[in-house]
Amino acid sequence: MGRRHCSFYLNCAFLFMCSIGWISLPPVNAALKQYQFDIQVKNVSRLCHAKPIVTVNGMFPGPTIYAREGDRVQINVTNYAQYNMSIHWHGLKQYRNGWVDGPAYVTQCPIQTGQSYTYDFNVTGQRGTLWWHAHIFWLRATVYGAIVIMPEQGMAYPFPQPDFEFNLVLGEWWNDDVEEVVKQGNKLGLPPRMSDAHTINGKPGPLFPCSEKHTYAVEVEQGKKYLFRIINAALNDELFFAIAGHNMTVVEVDAVYTKPFSTDAILIAPGQTTNVLVHANKISSRYFMAARPFMDAPLPIDNKTATAILQYKGVPNNVLPSLPNLPAPNDTSFALSYNAKLRSLNSPQFPANVPLKVDRHLFYTIGLGMNPCPTCQNGTRLTASLNNITFIMPQIGLLQAHYFNLTGVFTTDFPDRPPTPFNYTGAPLTANLRTVRSTRPRLSRIAFNSTVELVLQDTNLLSVESHPFHLHGYNFFVVGTGIGNFDPKKDPAKYNLVDPPERNTIGVPTGGWTAIRFRADNPGVWFMHCHLELHTSWGLKTAFVVENGPGPDQTILPPPKDLPSC
Ligand code: C2O
Repeated sequence: MGRRHCSFYLNCAFLFMCSIGWISLPPVNAALKQYQFDIQVKNVSRLCHAKPIVTVNGMFPGPTIYAREGDRVQINVTNYAQYNMSIHWHGLKQYRNGWVDGPAYVTQCPIQTGQSYTYDFNVTGQRGTLWWHAHIFWLRATVYGAIVIMPEQGMAYPFPQPDFEFNLVLGEWWNDDVEEVVKQGNKLGLPPRMSDAHTINGKPGPLFPCSEKHTYAVEVEQGKKYLFRIINAALNDELFFAIAGHNMTVVEVDAVYTKPFSTDAILIAPGQTTNVLVHANKISSRYFMAARPFMDAPLPIDNKTATAILQYKGVPNNVLPSLPNLPAPNDTSFALSYNAKLRSLNSPQFPANVPLKVDRHLFYTIGLGMNPCPTCQNGTRLTASLNNITFIMPQIGLLQAHYFNLTGVFTTDFPDRPPTPFNYTGAPLTANLRTVRSTRPRLSRIAFNSTVELVLQDTNLLSVESHPFHLHGYNFFVVGTGIGNFDPKKDPAKYNLVDPPERNTIGVPTGGWTAIRFRADNPGVWFMHCHLELHTSWGLKTAFVVENGPGPDQTILPPPKDLPSC
């Protein structure tokens, strides 16, 4: 951005006259925004229980990062907790700069107790709502917060200007230490016990015991318009969200503008963000905002409802709020039709540059499985795999290994398709007892600037389920989706190559498939995984090694001096 301003002033000097018209232009965009994140343990009480949780600066949720498109952001993270730590800036592309992406053992070694690391990055070509979270173990259960990127100075939103904005970060709460809960699960080879509550901005709301004072509320003024930036920071639950009595107009997902549409509820998967406009033009009263899981597979889930309050100015606190009508927890048809409404804005200013020609076709099956486990109480352990491969975490960062050409850390033979095709979504299959647990991570090598199509296919190995997949380092276009098995002959004809939603996290529907496309123009090692923490920890993940390009601006930047070592 700095450079752009230089050339603007140069142009001005040459044109001379423009100084008259442009004299009132806002100041230079690019600024340096600095934050200090102290990772500290703090006692927090919810649902009548107090427990120590890992926090940033003692806050839960953590602080919001505010930046403007074009800014440089420096966040110094100092770790005072007993756990190793790393922070991921979910959805920021970090062009050529994977060193600051954050997933532990993928792009960096974790920040050890007593150590610091400064995440130093530019916010280029992105504006909207994103978020940050711990990217090691299950620590993101309490270590998360919002990222708000404002448009460049002088640039308006492509939708009616709201009078005010609020962040709503949806989360999941356990009464016990989450790392202990996970350990217990692993001992049994089963999922850890489910959460005790859902939360809105860290608060479960008055439907939970001892939670009157742990209720988030916003005050609105009659007739005004509000932008709600909604983030799903829950570990394992896709959520419906609605506001009693009010429709929402969806205007952005994952920091990409959408064609606006009105809805009485939204569906948001872990990792995703959704911006909605709300017009406070209903009867002045108090209304519940509520979040509750969507689950359309025969699997157990924490189905409790988190609430917050939308209160018109002047209405007393003793007015009982009404609850919104949320879709039924297993409402597949709402989920499918809601997702089908999402379209990129695709305006001249914000075009959808969908790759029309594909250089590399990838087809990955998503499988759950059960492996023998001599040390587990039941003798077996649940696992997860992509193309039958359960991902093994390395001991050092994959990006370092790639950059410094260290051999023996990973291989790049991740298969482009499953070993043998089968009826992926047929009758429940239990055959997946032979997932490969290689000793080294297997990654996929992608040529610089090539266009990639990846079809993610859910399977009925143990059970079908909806999986929100997140790709680091990129946005992608969701060109197609369907129920059942992907048909490479017929389905591509139905793709939306004009205005498909562009995002960084996409739900693969239960027993279905999703096709995404992206241009591999960001060199580095980029993680891709299911954003259900349960599945990630079972191995439902892989990474792409995107090669350097030929140009000087197309290679991985050198690592920062303070990059943590393992
Ligand atoms: Cu939001 Cu790899 O994660």
